[in-house]
Amino acid sequence: MTTKNNNNTLSIEYKSVKELIVYARNTRTHSDEQVTQLMGSIKEFGWTNPVLIDEEGVLIAGHGRLMAAERLALDEVPSIMLTGLTETQKQAYRIADNRLPLNAGWNEELLKIEINELIESGFDIDTLGFTQLEIDDLLDLKTDVDIGELSGGNKSGSLFEKFLFPPFTVLSARDGKWQERKKQWIALGIKSEEGRDESLTFNKSHQPPAVYDEKNRYEEKVGKKVSWDEFFEANPDVKLLPGTSIFDPVLCELAYRWFSPEGGLILDPFSGGSVRGVVAAKTKRNYIGCDLRAEQISANIQQWEDIKSPDDEYTPIWKCGDSTYIRKHADNAQADLIFSCPPYADLEVYSDNPDDLSTMDYPEFLKAYRQIIKECVSMLKEDRFACFVVGDVRDKKGIYRNFVSDTIQAFIDAGADYYNEAILATSVGGVAMTASRTFKASRKLSKTHQNILVFVKGDPKKATLACGDIEIEDIGSEVDEEVL
Ligand SMILES: C[S@@+](CC[C@H](N)C(=O)[O-])C[C@H]1O[C@@H](n2cnc3c(N)ncnc32)[C@H](O)[C@@H]1O
Repeated sequence: MTTKNNNNTLSIEYKSVKELIVYARNTRTHSDEQVTQLMGSIKEFGWTNPVLIDEEGVLIAGHGRLMAAERLALDEVPSIMLTGLTETQKQAYRIADNRLPLNAGWNEELLKIEINELIESGFDIDTLGFTQLEIDDLLDLKTDVDIGELSGGNKSGSLFEKFLFPPFTVLSARDGKWQERKKQWIALGIKSEEGRDESLTFNKSHQPPAVYDEKNRYEEKVGKKVSWDEFFEANPDVKLLPGTSIFDPVLCELAYRWFSPEGGLILDPFSGGSVRGVVAAKTKRNYIGCDLRAEQISANIQQWEDIKSPDDEYTPIWKCGDSTYIRKHADNAQADLIFSCPPYADLEVYSDNPDDLSTMDYPEFLKAYRQIIKECVSMLKEDRFACFVVGDVRDKKGIYRNFVSDTIQAFIDAGADYYNEAILATSVGGVAMTASRTFKASRKLSKTHQNILVFVKGDPKKATLACGDIEIEDIGSEVDEEVL
């Protein structure tokens, strides 16, 4: 196709990716996440916007698209050669092409209607380029209290200043302040659970929600359940989906600052990724985490090596083994807080190891789970707290197993008292896409929360005294500068 404009003949030509030359002083930046979004867009819609090049094949616009094409291993991309522009005009247009679209706005009412219709029709709105929070915001799915404004009933600072977040039974990971703090933690270098080096630590067991969505879609397409290995073999690109699913570091920070003393020991029988160990060290706590999977433990240790700074006085410890024997793995340590996020029965299967709780049927799972909780509570010092983050799970018929209550009962039977329960409202984004279909088909409500269960061993007043004052510090000055 060829058309004319003022001084250019516009024709679209497919060029080899290798032939194109990136502009060395390109001022626009493209994060991994944005390139992944571009890949999703190219896959969903095909090429809708050729890259612009000059007579020498140097890019004028389309650096992000070219990066996406390279990652998709495409050989060729459509291009339009702009001829007759002076060097100065090219230099200016490289900026204008990126800046001019930013001056446009959104008709939010219409955008809301359009996005709702797309969700209604089951379209994957991830390809639109909005973040989950932006979608939550637009669709009014956020909580409506500005927690930063809460005074705390006296003049010595807001509840936010005193406790990091107000100590209420509903905590919201959707709030802007929560997200800001989370970004600061992630900027330290904490990576998502799929591991930092795909070949070494990409484990099939703990994936970002987007990966589960992809697997479900794939299974629907092929009409049968497939193993993780089969799935990744057929869908190698899936490993590049944004991996935002890490254990929430802000929730972790709150649990540590509210329920354990500085210098104390956190015991975590199902450590999974590195988050809980990293946050412990950075908030000046000792940490022993135990997990069955050796590859996860080595990835965690490596991540700490990458994150630690010379000022850090604490080093998290990860042990590989079955937490039924956590006393042995932790050398009889006495803990100041038990904190963990256990397998939610068989909701996600973590490995083929028969000692892995997630491989067991529910009665067998409960027996092993209760034994691990019993062992951990016996290692908790007197007058201390324990906290488990859980969510209920359904059996094959869709009936809730009552896992939250079973966890509470396990702690009570192990000698702890049930002391606090809070709900963490989690981001809605991806769930919005499937909620309508799920609800219409089964009247099941889509889960957008986690249960935070807090127990106390001994006297709650003494346990509170043992925690000492709550100190809220910046996570790190370099981090603040980078993120804020
Ligand atoms: C829900 S994940 C926990 C951490 C998760 N990464 C998170 O973000 O909270 C559950 C973990 O329990 C581990 N696990 C399962 N059975 C275990 C056992 N018997 N002993 C120790 N760890 C076990 C799994 O390997 C998995 O990493």
